[in-house]
Amino acid sequence: MKFYLTTPIYYPSGKFHIGTAYTTTLADTIKKYKQARGYDAYLLTGMDEHGQKIQKVAEKDGKTPQEHVDGMAEEAKKLWSLMEIDYDDFIRTTQERHTKVVEEIFDRLMEQGDIYLSEYEGWYCMPCETYFTETQLVDGKCPDCGREVKKMKEESYFFNMKKYADRLIKFYEENPNFILPESRKNELFNNFLKPGLEDLCVSRTSFDWGVKVRKNPKHVVYVWLDALTNYISALGYLSEDDSLMQKYWPADVHFVGKDIIRFHGIYWPIFLMALNLPLPKQIYAHGFIMMKDGKMSKSKGNVIYPEPLIERYGLDAFKYFILREMSYSQDGTFTPEGFVERYNFDLCNDLGNLLNRTIGMINKYFGGEVTRYPEAVSELDKELENFSNGTIHQVEEYLDTYHVSNAITETWNLISRTNKYIDETAPWVLFKEGKLEELKSVMYHLVENLRRIAILIAPYMKHTSQKILSELSIPKELQTWNSLESYNKIENLKVTDKPEVLFARLVQEQEIEVIKGMMK
Ligand code: MSP
Repeated sequence: MKFYLTTPIYYPSGKFHIGTAYTTTLADTIKKYKQARGYDAYLLTGMDEHGQKIQKVAEKDGKTPQEHVDGMAEEAKKLWSLMEIDYDDFIRTTQERHTKVVEEIFDRLMEQGDIYLSEYEGWYCMPCETYFTETQLVDGKCPDCGREVKKMKEESYFFNMKKYADRLIKFYEENPNFILPESRKNELFNNFLKPGLEDLCVSRTSFDWGVKVRKNPKHVVYVWLDALTNYISALGYLSEDDSLMQKYWPADVHFVGKDIIRFHGIYWPIFLMALNLPLPKQIYAHGFIMMKDGKMSKSKGNVIYPEPLIERYGLDAFKYFILREMSYSQDGTFTPEGFVERYNFDLCNDLGNLLNRTIGMINKYFGGEVTRYPEAVSELDKELENFSNGTIHQVEEYLDTYHVSNAITETWNLISRTNKYIDETAPWVLFKEGKLEELKSVMYHLVENLRRIAILIAPYMKHTSQKILSELSIPKELQTWNSLESYNKIENLKVTDKPEVLFARLVQEQEIEVIKGMMK
């Protein structure tokens, strides 16, 4: 069972902030989940290194574009390694394995008449490297980023989108889950596909940092045709060894942000149709991480980067926050207050205390020993078991459909339910009254649920998961996703007598200031 998933390839125009880190965290979480479920999962990421903007940024730094992107690629890899992103390949659009595929594709599409030479006039947004028609502009500005646009005219190659539009409409109709969430699909379908597609301008002559058109090298290939091709060039499409392509294409899912869904949901499928290749199975577009005062931007001084957050609060807390805060189909918000609150309530109180209380009681009442599935199972025990069975199925369903935030919420509901179970069963009373068989059962169920919780959070909180499992001395075979199904397989075990604090409580006011100080 294979599962091929991709992140967008990032522009190396500046340091990556938590928004860029989000797409990658999401994709990595799904990869780890799929692996846990037995898939041969392959995650591709990389960098989109061509285009006028990169050329300009490099110039400003007194570097050649190549020097600039080489430096940025190292930075990116450092960040992914800090974030323990388990990618299988890192493609860069300046690599020969990629450029030669782009050249070849352009030639082919020209030969078969899908790409033709003409002249283009339109409103150009420099940062987005995109032309817009008059009607697409919003208040005379770029509809994507809101910045100034300039009227420009140039000789250009065009891609005959109209030829494929009907086929794509049909594909959308036959594959209702092709674009997720549904709201984004409707947007694309109603605003772009249905009104009729314009032919797309696929070359530029105004700069030269890009893949040159073989037959007419004053043209460089439009950065999006170049960039989208990464998803197949990385698999060896058109190369001597295309075994990865045979094995993994079509992609099971492309993860993208909502700002680039149009390129992935319309142009990419049409390029693939023209190449006679199968289309990706799904494209999921997430929302944006916003700040209190809107989008992150250096001019507002509200940009927050992953590194200082990870350094101070740990990788697990960072991933937990961004994944939980971003809902399936809406934007999420980063605030220092929200971060500290989630840390203190969700991680420190709910999860941390559950583990500590449990281990403390087992040590106090039974010298650290938990006994094999006990006899005196109560109604409350059974209720908790049922609740956690339900959680597992919900979490799987959510992760299968990329509702990661919902999956996390379900898991935290189980954590709260388990905490409540301690209050309901009142182990201290059972102990006082000498009801040791009942008490054993309560401890057993607590351990069993903590084991399940640790497995459910593993795809995005590996360190915490490992700590829980090791403090409870859960055997390896009961640490797997498959073992979630079985409830009463734990043999006698002995928990640690020196539990570590998972998440130390933060001093709220002080920490909020610290995070504010991290914003640039
Ligand atoms: N190079 C193109 C992608 C080409 S893919 C064939 C690009 N690069 S990007 O660096 O500008 O953006 C990469 C990803 O980061 C996009 O998915 C974008 O949506 C995401 N994000 C950028 N800012 C974001 C937030 N504030 N929040 C969440 N994601 C955001 O586009």
